[in-house]
Amino acid sequence: MRIAIASDHGGFDQKGPLASYIADELGHEVVDLGPDTADSVDYPDYAEKVARAVSSGDADFGVLICGTGIGMSIAANKVAGVRASSITSPAFAELFRQHNNGNVLCLSGRFVELDANKQIVKTFLETPFEGGRHDRRVAKIAALEATEA
Ligand code: RB5
Repeated sequence: MRIAIASDHGGFDQKGPLASYIADELGHEVVDLGPDTADSVDYPDYAEKVARAVSSGDADFGVLICGTGIGMSIAANKVAGVRASSITSPAFAELFRQHNNGNVLCLSGRFVELDANKQIVKTFLETPFEGGRHDRRVAKIAALEATEA
């Protein structure tokens, strides 16, 4: 799969190691959408890059890292077709895929250790959507989105 990744300064230190983990250990293609330095940046700018990559189909999934994961998820969810959430445990990563068909994983670079985030990423990328009753609910999210157009 093709995975788009980006961060702000709060997640920058974990972006490189997580990108390497996804490519080298999990075997996916990774597209790093920045930033290239740890300088202060605005998280919506990078959330938009990854969200648009996923929304357009250029990437299968997205990974965003900021201080908490919260700002990234709020911003990414403004792009049509994106289902993003701040996730801090493998259990939530699993449910995010199984029930919500989540496609943009937002991580905390300041409150969750790198090894824990690796486990969250692995679970996120390896868990399928369950469909069934969840399909109907996810379709209702898309319908809500359509009313905002
Ligand atoms: C930046 O200081 C911080 O606000 C950002 O990384 C993130 O945590 C926002 O939700």
